[in-house]
Amino acid sequence: MRIVIARDYEHLSCLGAGLVGEAIVRKPDLVLGLATGVTPLGVYRKLGEMYEAGQVDFSRLTVFNLDEYYGLSPADPRSYRSYLERNLFSRVNLRPENIHLVPGQPGNVADACRNYDLAIAAAGGIDLQILGIGQNGHVGFNEPGKSLCVATHLVDLAPQTVEANARSFPDHGAVPGRAVTVGMGAIMKARRILLLAGGREKAAAVAGALWGPVTTAVPASLLQLHRHTTLIVDQAAAGLIRDCTSAAGGSG
Ligand code: F6R
Repeated sequence: MRIVIARDYEHLSCLGAGLVGEAIVRKPDLVLGLATGVTPLGVYRKLGEMYEAGQVDFSRLTVFNLDEYYGLSPADPRSYRSYLERNLFSRVNLRPENIHLVPGQPGNVADACRNYDLAIAAAGGIDLQILGIGQNGHVGFNEPGKSLCVATHLVDLAPQTVEANARSFPDHGAVPGRAVTVGMGAIMKARRILLLAGGREKAAAVAGALWGPVTTAVPASLLQLHRHTTLIVDQAAAGLIRDCTSAAGGSG
């Protein structure tokens, strides 16, 4: 895994957007996997700026998002669909037909999940997957457990995840307890992964993912087995790994 330690969140966002932008310039019909949450917000803002500046064209890009709360209306501002509309889709020239969103609506979830995996496969798989990491080491909403699911599936969120996501909801009880997430299969098959982590609260998860045993108890630890992952962390999230690597803000 290539590790890049950024000075701060702004630097992390610049480096992350630079990596994604370069990948799109090299392959305009890239298939990009999108994480949501707080961490990639700066990357999406900068990608919007790069588009405005005429540096990156999103018109041939295909995107698949990673996860969605189960049972929230797609129009709900806290849904990940709304998040992506607000923070990325409205800022760049993605074609609506190239946007694929994890199904979070009640109904035939199993079929909807299968169709999502089929759509990823039909697109040729993910070229570049953007990931954040949960404080408990989850990626997507693949939560720690005795086993991990390969396919897109409905999942019960871990109490720690519900707690962490409560910041977007008026009260704790309103946070959906379930979500649909892309499984570890599509993530691990991505040709390239960009893992982003910022803030001291992520330091233990980052260290566990990098140097702990590869275990379903820390889903991000599976990324140690991935051939082409770049981790960009800020100094705070790198707090527990800095003894093991030299800080360089661009090397690694
Ligand atoms: C969201 C996702 C999650 C988040 C993780 C970190 O699409 O897949 O794995 O990346 O929970 O969230 P933030 O960035 O809000 O700390």
